[in-house]
Amino acid sequence: MRIAVVGSGYVGLVAGACFADLGHDVILVDNDERKLAALNAGEVPIHENFLPELLQRHRGRKLTFSSDLQAAVRASAAVFVAVGTPPTEQGDADLSYVESVARDIAGAINGYKIIVEKSTVPVYTSEWVRKVILRNGAAAGSYDVASNPEFLREGTAVVDFLYPDRIVLGSDSERCTSLLREIYAPLIDGTYYQKPDAIPRPDGASIPAQVIATSTKSAELIKHASNAFLAMKISFINAVATVCESVGANVQQICQGIGADKRIGPRFLNPGIGYGGSCFPKDLMAFRAVAKECGYDFRLLDEVMRINEEQRQRFLRKVRSALWTLRGKRLAVLGLAFKGGTDDIRESPAMLLVQALLQEGCQIAAYDPAAMPRAQEVFHSQVDFASNAYEAARGADAVLVLTEWEEFATLDLTRLYNQLKYPIVIDGRNLYDPEVMGAHGFTYYSVGRAPVVPQAPEAGSQTAKVNRS
Ligand SMILES: NC(=O)c1ccc[n+]([C@@H]2O[C@H](COP(=O)([O-])OP(=O)(O)OC[C@H]3O[C@@H](n4cnc5c(N)ncnc54)[C@H](O)[C@@H]3O)[C@@H](O)[C@H]2O)c1
Repeated sequence: MRIAVVGSGYVGLVAGACFADLGHDVILVDNDERKLAALNAGEVPIHENFLPELLQRHRGRKLTFSSDLQAAVRASAAVFVAVGTPPTEQGDADLSYVESVARDIAGAINGYKIIVEKSTVPVYTSEWVRKVILRNGAAAGSYDVASNPEFLREGTAVVDFLYPDRIVLGSDSERCTSLLREIYAPLIDGTYYQKPDAIPRPDGASIPAQVIATSTKSAELIKHASNAFLAMKISFINAVATVCESVGANVQQICQGIGADKRIGPRFLNPGIGYGGSCFPKDLMAFRAVAKECGYDFRLLDEVMRINEEQRQRFLRKVRSALWTLRGKRLAVLGLAFKGGTDDIRESPAMLLVQALLQEGCQIAAYDPAAMPRAQEVFHSQVDFASNAYEAARGADAVLVLTEWEEFATLDLTRLYNQLKYPIVIDGRNLYDPEVMGAHGFTYYSVGRAPVVPQAPEAGSQTAKVNRS
């Protein structure tokens, strides 16, 4: 099928490349000429596993790039809208990009088409999109508006798209639903997974993909409710971690104990410095706002957001109590992305913590395997960017672990120890085993677990290094 995807950001680019891999002819539309030039030149603008392979496989053949939205719509049977829906100052979703795309689509409808919301939008958006297209001259009956929310996670976006837990098809018309099913047919009937060059199946993926057909309103709500629930799970375990710290319990054991209950499950029970990224913070605020507009005061969400904010502040207090004064301290920061596996720094708790530490007068040497080019655009020369974790740690008063990159979990701890001025690690992602850290001579602080302070001479609250050679 000929498909247009409007917006070639994290979601649009991955969706477009994956639709091409399912056998469709895809035109990816964006109004950012620089992005289009980079894509046409063979660049891969975001860090995602398997995306370079898919772009290489389909670029210029089943996947083309264009700034001409109307031509793309005219040429396509389905138009997926994947533009940004950032928060307004009031916290609700800014739908002006969606509206502007809907207006442009209206003038290009030259036969029955489906307009599919891929962006995360509040309930009732499909109604508005339908009205805007009608008001701008499209004939009633010449199109349907559907909601097909995207659940991909940055860092594993391609496999999430091709091996989804579920495909939600929200539509109020049979004709539209059957087109949507046709688009996803290779995942629903499993033929995609038999292709010799299919992207490899990740552990635990169940195939073929499960379809959940709903009304458009339900599909819109499914996306907001999913993100709100996941954020709630993170805030819940962070609150439990705080209790653990007060009573000397180990949150990791709690996670194991409650996660083994099938009704709860172990995933997303990761205590740390809180959630971030371009989705959870904005989607929670938008869900809160739309619920209010619909007459429900969803105060549970306020609490989820409050705990999340507090978690960062608690981490800062932990840094202070480990180092006493902060002005002039040199800190090695490992991780800037909002989570491991991505270069996305939007609403990253790591970035917010670095900002706060700079304000306190710290010197920061940072390393992130993928997010440094983006972070450099924010911090410029305020932060020293290192080429690896050991270089960042050289001469530092402490290491702060802020993103859960696999690479950090497997660092050579003896080498890390030898780089540091003081062997102090403050781990915001619980990447290390406290016992192992203690055995390596580190003073080690993590989240929801007792700190480890080896028997060693102390200066203030700082532990002087023992010569281990
Ligand atoms: N990033 C994620 O992990 C994720 C996951 C699921 C859903 N979502 C949702 O998907 C949507 C897109 O998110 P994203 O992270 O891909 O955003 P993004 O900012 O990375 O990409 C949006 C793209 O849309 C383009 N754009 C804006 N207005 C346009 C217009 N009028 N015409 C053509 N292109 C236009 C921008 O130039 C940009 O390239 C959001 O609603 C988001 O909440 C994101």
